[in-house]
Amino acid sequence: MAKPPLVLQTTTLWDYPSQHYGDTVQGDPDYAGATPSFVIWNLLSRYTHKGETVVDPMAGSGTTLDVAKDLERKALGFDIAPFRKDIARADARKIPLKNAFADFVFVDPPYSTHIAYSDEPACIGRLDAASKDYARAMEQVIREIDRILKPGRYMALYVSDSFKKGTPFIPIGIELFGLLKKRFVPVDIICVVRRNAKLKRNHWHTAAIEGNYFLRGFNYLFIMKKRPAKKSLATMDRRDKAEIRQHILDRTPAKAPAKQGFRPKKTGHKKPGPFKK
Ligand SMILES: C[S@@+](CC[C@H](N)C(=O)[O-])C[C@H]1O[C@@H](n2cnc3c(N)ncnc32)[C@H](O)[C@@H]1O
Repeated sequence: MAKPPLVLQTTTLWDYPSQHYGDTVQGDPDYAGATPSFVIWNLLSRYTHKGETVVDPMAGSGTTLDVAKDLERKALGFDIAPFRKDIARADARKIPLKNAFADFVFVDPPYSTHIAYSDEPACIGRLDAASKDYARAMEQVIREIDRILKPGRYMALYVSDSFKKGTPFIPIGIELFGLLKKRFVPVDIICVVRRNAKLKRNHWHTAAIEGNYFLRGFNYLFIMKKRPAKKSLATMDRRDKAEIRQHILDRTPAKAPAKQGFRPKKTGHKKPGPFKK
């Protein structure tokens, strides 16, 4: 199936039918837990300009790096268990960058222990989200993101709540949003439709009905802004008009030329005349 063109999402419900856009892939299709690349494409298109620096402190298979390259942004990726050569080893709780370095930060952290990313003892994916340790670790990650982000600029965190059959539901999204709000100004909360392969299997849906629980149908995308430094003009609230016009033109299907000499057809209906008694 041909993939639909990428467009800037304009509501708080984001959806795209593929993990990757275009004729190439972004990140690695076999990497469990990779972020759908259209999410990062939309964020970088809106909140960064060409040549600016994007950081992903939990870069996984490198989706952020690939999208940044497509959009001509510079990108730095770190991970506790680097998956490719252009990702440096670092703990997201201690990012090796100076203060106020990044123009944008994207992060898609582990959501509890659902995926075994690596054997690294410092992997946050080894911490159960029901424990205080997960929240503590994520609070440190968020503090680091705040430190490396330039004032007045944006960050986004992509996350799902956690539910395992037979254990209590954990609203990770809501909990992480609470942590983010302590440091950043909320810009918006986006619901991203999940389209993972598991959701296509009928028996998962049957089990959800029989067990009276719900499958995860969406991920949260929290978009936050770091308060501008006093007297700083480093805000990005409006997009460049020419850039937006070009974006719309690039995605507007060409209209078929109008037929010459076209006249509306007569339908044969007579106009109602004056009412006669
Ligand atoms: C959901 S995946 C990120 C997926 C990535 N956005 C992609 O598209 O491939 C979460 C990543 O967090 C990494 N991670 C876990 N604990 C970490 C830590 N303490 N510091 C840095 N990275 C960590 C894992 O190794 C994993 O690659």
